[in-house]
Amino acid sequence: MLTRFLPSEDATLEFGARLAHSLQPGLVVYLSGDLGAGKTTLARGILRALGYTGRVKSPTFTLVEVYAFSTLYLYHFDFYRFDDPAELDDAGFREYFNANAVCVVEWPEKAAGLPPPDMHIALHVTAGGRTVEIRADTEVGKLCMTRLQHESRT
Ligand SMILES: Nc1ncnc2c1ncn2[C@@H]1O[C@H](COP(=O)(O)OP(=O)(O)O)[C@@H](O)[C@H]1O
Ligand SMILES: [Mg+2]
Repeated sequence: MLTRFLPSEDATLEFGARLAHSLQPGLVVYLSGDLGAGKTTLARGILRALGYTGRVKSPTFTLVEVYAFSTLYLYHFDFYRFDDPAELDDAGFREYFNANAVCVVEWPEKAAGLPPPDMHIALHVTAGGRTVEIRADTEVGKLCMTRLQHESRT
């Protein structure tokens, strides 16, 4: 497990940028943490670093926001308001989890039956900022984490 202290919103955005450079298509990334922990901020850091210049909306009401880049799709989910597990299939969400896409998921614990994560990132409010813990659960997740550690040194 990798742990980092993020003293400001900018630090969260920058961490997201480093993470963006270590991602590869097919990855499933869970983002956990309380409301206000910085999950959407981290997603915004990822998207900006991939070249998205528009406003990053929180998918709280839409459940998913879709971003298309030249090398991958990024699907940003927020299942906070999700209460019906059958909806996962009804909404066709399962198809979003495919080899060409990175799926970044806020509140994965609210959507039973989601594909398991390659990486699990947990944010906690701590004195003076946030603490982020990153865990890799699969081989591709571990590769991503190794790249992230190299990014962190630069
Ligand atoms: N490292 C940090 N230190 C202090 N504030 C932060 C940090 N990262 C994010 N924030 C702030 O936390 C607030 C909530 O962020 P948000 O990303 O919407 O949380 P979540 O999606 O987890 O509910 C925002 O106002 C953001 O500026
Ligand atoms: Mg959010």
